[in-house]
Amino acid sequence: MRIDIVTIFPEFFGVLDVSLLGKARTSGIIDVAVHDLRDFTHDRHRTVDDTPYGGGAGMVMRPEPWGEALDSIVDAGSTVIFPSPAGERFTQATARELAAEQHLVFGCGRYEGIDQRVIDYASTKATVREISLGDYVLNGGEVAVMAMIEAVGRLIPGVIGNAASLDEESHEDGLLEYPSYTKPPEWRGLEVPPVLMGGNHGAIAAWRHEQQLERTTRVRPDLLGESGVAG
Ligand code: ADE
Repeated sequence: MRIDIVTIFPEFFGVLDVSLLGKARTSGIIDVAVHDLRDFTHDRHRTVDDTPYGGGAGMVMRPEPWGEALDSIVDAGSTVIFPSPAGERFTQATARELAAEQHLVFGCGRYEGIDQRVIDYASTKATVREISLGDYVLNGGEVAVMAMIEAVGRLIPGVIGNAASLDEESHEDGLLEYPSYTKPPEWRGLEVPPVLMGGNHGAIAAWRHEQQLERTTRVRPDLLGESGVAG
């Protein structure tokens, strides 16, 4: 997969060099390029923002540098993602959809957002999605893009060594994950549930499913409605 990121803070993405995703980059499974939006400006101050038409607080990102950046990066097969608190909600299903794409372009907005014409223009050239990480406001898209790249990257075949571990995590089957334990069998007076040490695989699977249902009902009852598991 090819990933291009446009941002005024390229240094934010240094963390992509570490951990699993760093390995995926080195091995060529994921090819990431980070572009500084200011490289597409032409004035002495490398200006990327201006005051909003119609008034209001804050600054809006000007369309010209964005237009030049996108022209140099996007083609008809690209999926362009603008992180925004006004976008569709990012879920595990979104991550799976994006993991199936060949080319993702992330456009990180700052300030009060990007001139709407940039999003409208990009929509005439490629598939565009405005995506929100959740119902809260970040200072810019960079942190949201890091989260999305991590969630998407680990679903790409070859990035995670043990692909089976992907099927058993929270959200893959619409439920939260069951609790996990390792050695020792007793720690500070707290014991591992005996069923996990009994070797009865049917009983273990049933216990884990019960735990998933109990945890989901308690913490995230909204998910039960969505998955239809026990609604
Ligand atoms: N930019 C600012 N807030 C955001 C959010 N909640 N999700 C994605 N991008 C954002």
